Amino acid sequence: MDNRPIGLLDSGVGGLTVVKKIIAKMPHESTVFIGDNAHIPYGDKTKEEIIALTTQSVKFLLSKNVKLIIFACNTATAVAMNFIQKEIEPQIIGVIQSGALAAANTTKNKKVAVVATKMTVGSHAYQKEIQTRDPQIETIELAAPKIVPLIEADAGHKAYMTELKKTLAPISNLDFDTLILGCTHYPIIQKEFAQCLKPDVQIIDPADQVAQYTYNVMKRDQLFSTNIAEGKHEYFTTGNVALFDELGRLVLNDQQFQAQQL
Ligand code: SIN
Repeated sequence: MDNRPIGLLDSGVGGLTVVKKIIAKMPHESTVFIGDNAHIPYGDKTKEEIIALTTQSVKFLLSKNVKLIIFACNTATAVAMNFIQKEIEPQIIGVIQSGALAAANTTKNKKVAVVATKMTVGSHAYQKEIQTRDPQIETIELAAPKIVPLIEADAGHKAYMTELKKTLAPISNLDFDTLILGCTHYPIIQKEFAQCLKPDVQIIDPADQVAQYTYNVMKRDQLFSTNIAEGKHEYFTTGNVALFDELGRLVLNDQQFQAQQL
């Protein structure tokens, strides 16, 4: 049994979509989240920059004495997770393996689309993970570099549809039956994604599977907390706190949401 918090990191508010699923699955667990908004988006940076920035966030989470770390960021999972895991003891859980597994289990026609950042798409991490689960599945990858900055800038969803329609146009008529939201920001606008796709396309939010996988790991390693009360949750951002709070309240549907400046 282990009463330390679970640590989560992301380049911005997107990772809160994972925090939400973790809290729903394990309400007695406490969490510490860091959003590195001062350096968003990670998806357009070099591999070295992403590793350096993610390492800073990991160091911060370790200073908060976390028991395991979830990379609630596809770009950091694709580029930095294996590298950083070699350097630290607490287990790191990424989002890509879970998303790939969910998609492989969902597709009927063995065609899966992945929308993600330039760096995640360039790493082909989803394609490789899906291939190891079922080599028959064809993976269509699409980079969407403009969507993360839009979500970070506009909590009211005003400008999304035009840009999203334009972004998804190259794949919207292809015959995949499953689409992975390959960036943790995208579930914030999942409804808008659905409106741009054929109605029978199944949309995968990897966070659902991440929460289940984290639960399984904690059960295996006896990491559950003994708390009877609800867990405590701390949120930190390296960026603008007021903007982060506005988005955080929207994502977590919690008017009391309050982040701290880092
Ligand atoms: C980004 O910072 O570019 C997006 C984060 C992600 O890949 O989930």
